[in-house]
Amino acid sequence: MKRLIEAADIQSKVSELGRRIADEYRGRPLTVIGVLTGGVVLVSDLIRSIDLPLRVGMIHASSYRGKATSPGDITLDVELLPDIRDRHVLVVDDIFDTGRTLAAVIDHIRTANPCSVRGAVLLWKERRREIDWEPHYFGFKIPDVFVVGYGLDYNDEHRSLPYVAALEEGDF
Ligand code: XMP
Repeated sequence: MKRLIEAADIQSKVSELGRRIADEYRGRPLTVIGVLTGGVVLVSDLIRSIDLPLRVGMIHASSYRGKATSPGDITLDVELLPDIRDRHVLVVDDIFDTGRTLAAVIDHIRTANPCSVRGAVLLWKERRREIDWEPHYFGFKIPDVFVVGYGLDYNDEHRSLPYVAALEEGDF
């Protein structure tokens, strides 16, 4: 695997995002929603960098189903989603690739009448976007390569790596 983004660079970017988010949401009721499973690492680091009282919830979205294939239909499990009526919602995921997963989550969140909804991701594969929407907060733009680490998996492995690495031909 080829390392793309080192752990220290991720940590300083997450702290920077946390400070920006705290400035922008100060005085407003904020709920941060992590997208399982890939968003679990970013959401746990990010909420500790946002120096505000906030609530945390989770939603489960699946599309890749554990393999490095193109995304199919997106399935949402909303069992862990708290009441977000009259709250400002920040949806946090690992990566914005085609954008279909975040779009499906945000469409669902909007049906629950929050005050506002924004998206935050660590990685953004800008050239793959298929929808007319962009994440409000992002850490790093990356080329169209399959990446693992910091929540991202291949066959449900490598999520716990503190850095982001690109899988190369022989790694699959
Ligand atoms: P979309 O295309 O809906 O994809 O924006 C978002 C979800 O797909 C997964 N994904 C990846 N997982 N390496 C991964 O391990 C990748 O390069 C990659 N690209 C997309 C991921 O679960 C994300 O939430």
